Amino acid sequence: MSGPLVEKYRPQTLDDIVGQKSIIKRLQKYVGEKSMPNLMFTGPAGVGKTTTAIALVKTILGDYWRQNFLELNASDARGIETVRNNIKNFCRLKPVNAPFRIIFLDEVDNMTKDAQHALRREMEMYTKTASFILSCNYSSKIIDPIQSRCAIFRFAPINGESMIKRLKYICKHQKIKYEDEGLENIVYFAEGDMRKAINILQSCASEGEKVTEESVYEVVSKARPQDVNLMITSALSGDFMKARDLLKETMIIQGTSGEDMITQIYTDVSKRVYDGKMNSDIYIELIDAIADCDFRIREGANPRIQLEALLTKFL
Ligand SMILES: Nc1ncnc2c1ncn2[C@@H]1O[C@H](COP(=O)(O)OP(=O)(O)OP(=O)(O)O)[C@@H](O)[C@H]1O
Ligand SMILES: [Mg+2]
Repeated sequence: MSGPLVEKYRPQTLDDIVGQKSIIKRLQKYVGEKSMPNLMFTGPAGVGKTTTAIALVKTILGDYWRQNFLELNASDARGIETVRNNIKNFCRLKPVNAPFRIIFLDEVDNMTKDAQHALRREMEMYTKTASFILSCNYSSKIIDPIQSRCAIFRFAPINGESMIKRLKYICKHQKIKYEDEGLENIVYFAEGDMRKAINILQSCASEGEKVTEESVYEVVSKARPQDVNLMITSALSGDFMKARDLLKETMIIQGTSGEDMITQIYTDVSKRVYDGKMNSDIYIELIDAIADCDFRIREGANPRIQLEALLTKFL
């Protein structure tokens, strides 16, 4: 297998984008009208924001899209200088054989506030000849005046069914062998992120092996949900030493990280409440302890010690 599958299977047209149906429908309207306002794409990682932006640009600008298109990744070029130089110079020129020019600013949430204010002025100045597409994970990091100048599109995580369908499509074309449980497990760990799903698939199949439930666990190095469940059940029933052993086993043998472990504990506990297997008073106490532990681990405390201390709260 040569090269990353995420790139090989990046959809080239709006129709090929998985999920995001209502967004694509709204965007098709702009294509029909050959005009568009400034757009803001926001949502979690790996759900098709950049892909959609590029596909839209190609469709709406046609054969001359390259000449009329400027792409800047705000994570690399986040300062005010970029806005002043690159964007200004590009916007000053007339569109070439196209109705307008498009500036695509990826990952704008990494732009400084000063640069955002400068950008706001550029957006106002060139409304006739240029449109902007801004993409970000957190729209709350974008200053209000920019948000109010954009039509906002909120991208959702990719649902399980669509993800499985796409993974099967890739497996078919790459001749990857799989078991359904393997793909289901990928979906479980990808948490709606298509990029992550395809990357897990590629790692599992890298040596030509079959994708199975087990091979997915090995690749993601996360704990098996049933082990986490048993660990919590043991702690809740008062068997601290058994819970501690299970924790040690997953973290040392499977190499599960502290961050992953705490997230999986959270998932398990939430499911218990949801299924009516834990009463809400207990949950309220536990979630407080889980939040504390999560914070400390992320601040750099020793994860094993923090997680063991957390297990004592379950007793
Ligand atoms: N909706 C989708 N349909 C099909 N493939 C997708 C979709 N979303 C993501 N992918 C796959 O994941 C890869 C990354 O997608 P993309 O770059 O569009 O994500 P993004 O939403 O811009 O993420 P980020 O917030 O990290 O920039 C694509 O190359 C493609 O292989
Ligand atoms: Mg992106």
